[in-house]
Amino acid sequence: MFLTVCGFLAISESGLAASENEPIQVTSPNERLVVEFALNPDRAPTYSVSLDGAELVKPSRLGLYFASRIDLVTGFEIDAVEQSTVDTSWEQPWGERRIVEDRHNELLVKLSARTPDRRLNLRFRVFDDGVGFRYEVPEQANYSQVTLVGEFTEFRVSRDARAFAQPADGELRYEQLYTEMPVGLIDIAATPLTLRLESGVHLAMHEAALVDYPAYSLEFDVESIFRTQLRPASAGHRAILDVPFLTPWRTIQVAETAVGLVNSSLILNLNEPSALDDTNWIEPGKYVGIWWAMHLGQKTWGAGERHGATTAEAKRYIDFAAEHGFDGVLVEGWNVGWNGDWVDNSQFSFTEPYPDFDIEAVAAYARKRGLRLIGHHETGGHMSDYEAVVDEAFALYESLDVRQVKTGYVGTAGSLKRKDDAGEIQFEWHDSQFAVNHYQRVVETAARHRIAINTHEPVKDTGLRRTWPNWLTREGSRGMEFAIWGETSNPPGHEPMLAFTRMLAGPMDYTPGIFDLELEVNGEKRRVQTTLAKQLALYVVIYSPIHMVPDLPENYLERPAAFQFLVDVPTDWEQSRSLAGAVGEYIVTTRQERGGEDWYLGAITNEHARRLSIELGFLDAGKDYIAEIYADGADADWVTNPYSMNISRREVASDDTLELGLAAGGGAAIRFRPASSVLSD
Ligand code: NOJ
Repeated sequence: MFLTVCGFLAISESGLAASENEPIQVTSPNERLVVEFALNPDRAPTYSVSLDGAELVKPSRLGLYFASRIDLVTGFEIDAVEQSTVDTSWEQPWGERRIVEDRHNELLVKLSARTPDRRLNLRFRVFDDGVGFRYEVPEQANYSQVTLVGEFTEFRVSRDARAFAQPADGELRYEQLYTEMPVGLIDIAATPLTLRLESGVHLAMHEAALVDYPAYSLEFDVESIFRTQLRPASAGHRAILDVPFLTPWRTIQVAETAVGLVNSSLILNLNEPSALDDTNWIEPGKYVGIWWAMHLGQKTWGAGERHGATTAEAKRYIDFAAEHGFDGVLVEGWNVGWNGDWVDNSQFSFTEPYPDFDIEAVAAYARKRGLRLIGHHETGGHMSDYEAVVDEAFALYESLDVRQVKTGYVGTAGSLKRKDDAGEIQFEWHDSQFAVNHYQRVVETAARHRIAINTHEPVKDTGLRRTWPNWLTREGSRGMEFAIWGETSNPPGHEPMLAFTRMLAGPMDYTPGIFDLELEVNGEKRRVQTTLAKQLALYVVIYSPIHMVPDLPENYLERPAAFQFLVDVPTDWEQSRSLAGAVGEYIVTTRQERGGEDWYLGAITNEHARRLSIELGFLDAGKDYIAEIYADGADADWVTNPYSMNISRREVASDDTLELGLAAGGGAAIRFRPASSVLSD
């Protein structure tokens, strides 16, 4: 319980709490969630979390291991305890909601240990929807740099929990399928890791503000403890850190329903405010691109007869984008270096276009037609080489008035190329300290050139878009492109799973909106495992400030009525709220357009057809709306009849309930317009 409304309140000094080993509590603003800090008999820090008195995380150890006797693990005394409370809100330059409320209570515990002298601070923040805590290593008496070899952060949860997990090992990095399983079957899982407890309460473990530190994954052991595994560097250690340092926040989202996780802003709240004063140049929006044709095998990234990135083709896409009000055109394969087996090709140029691509003319033509060229830097995972030229590469794009660049780091897990001091190549992981620092350097360099970044093959998102709003979006999961890779296609349950797992981390460049669902790739048949209506709904369900409209223009022009939704749907929102859902099964999400009055709704399901009754209480009371409904037809089914769709209009108000039928692998997308604005059209 807190007596102050704002500011710091020291409630205890060293001595009492430490010698009597009394636990120290900090509660959420609504007092339902409680974090308890204590020293165990070894005088090691521990914490536990409970909701309404029921334990969610049992007493779990904390600590940091270094490659010497200075470990911050046991033998501590409590020197001081400080508590404070925050009740504020802040505005996002772009986002899923404009105003973010930040209400939390904070506990700072200052610890010290002797022989040798060591100090460690632990900071906890408790929100109504979860907990964040981090290690703060202050200046030390005897050293100014440490080699971190491990982190002793435990999450001790009930063995009865169900987990929705993606393995943290495997060649495909974060591009593996999530699976539902008893928590005890987890070997090692990436975060966000979502759990459903027997009580129905949902937890999600992740991290916020991952800076100059390796990412963590969670290993589950026989004692029912999730143990933190930091991604190692090629040299074996986890991180080299200058003291003082802060670790990222370790986060536990807590919600009584699955959608409670989705509606949380906890990860953003634990990040620092924007480092950029001027963010007006950062532009959310929709883009098309010379992209899917390469994945379909119709065009090539490399030079030759089927080269995709020609001046003429780029102008064709620009015309298409301009005619339909899209904001940008991505062009991949424009630069020298793609010929042959580009996955193993080591030398991409980031400034030399292929001769059949006149980059100046294309960029100028895009500006003339009211949009922009979107840049592309595929690095093939050569991080050091890319860093050496990235400033010059962004300068070129800046001179052409390009405001967004998609970067890529294709390669299997652990194959990123770092050049050491001797110029030798060392192989690193996508979520190692080295890679974390690389992605960060690229985003900061881009900001100096007024360029926003869409990272493919990234490190996971930890909310850094709050601090660096030019980090617009990223991949970091299995995107739509998996639909064309044979056996590995995304199953119908994939997106309702992502909504409650990967998407808790932040925006994703999923590239929804494939209209030709029955594909042929180099003579082989492939299936996108959704109905057409579900492709539309994904623009609302999966949040990203930039969404691609990825299919070939001719496939959109064949289905103009359905295409209208992709033309209309915005990517920047005043507010967002998911209304109902179950992990991996279905979700219903509503969002209100930023700077406008329209609302949008997206509903998607897995392989099971279902009927949903949706109360429209999110609409403004007393106002009439026209709902433009794009729903699966009665006979739709992703396997047998994916294109069957009913497009209808009806008048609705906030006290109405809408009945929606979703087909197997299906969905529904709705635009709600105030009736007055439709009449004045
Ligand atoms: C993988 C990315 O996910 C994809 O979007 C891109 O087209 C290729 N790499 C080439 O950069």
